[in-house]
Amino acid sequence: RSEKVWLTLSFGMIMLFMLATGYQSYALEMGPPSNMETIDPQKVDQTAPFDNPGVKQIGDNEYEVVMTLQVFSFNPGKLEFPAGSTVHFTLTSKDVVHGFQVANTNINAMVMPGHIQKITQKFDKPGEYLVLCNEYCGAGHQMMATTITVK
Ligand code: CUA
Repeated sequence: RSEKVWLTLSFGMIMLFMLATGYQSYALEMGPPSNMETIDPQKVDQTAPFDNPGVKQIGDNEYEVVMTLQVFSFNPGKLEFPAGSTVHFTLTSKDVVHGFQVANTNINAMVMPGHIQKITQKFDKPGEYLVLCNEYCGAGHQMMATTITVK
């Protein structure tokens, strides 16, 4: 009897998995929203603002982060902001599709080669926020992580 339950459960899991991959390839084919700026992924290092990645203060408690993602790193990596900062991220990938997820925030974005991803986030609570790649990008994917410290 329990075998039947397991069989049904695993069948359900397989169906879900197939649906998920089907949807993923559909979403990829549809591409990113058309309002996303594009960039030549071969020329990221030569294209502003990515020719100069880093953190820039642009106002009181307001920062701009220009970041490139590449197997298996974020550049710049570790970031630090005073509590209450509003941070504008401008992201692109230099190779494959990566993810940019920041724990305990709503940030959860796909960063694709050829496209510029923009995210604005206010960091009120002090703490260490884990930054993770959440798109499988190769053998070192699990190690692709950094931190944002707010204090
Ligand atoms: Cu980058 Cu997974």
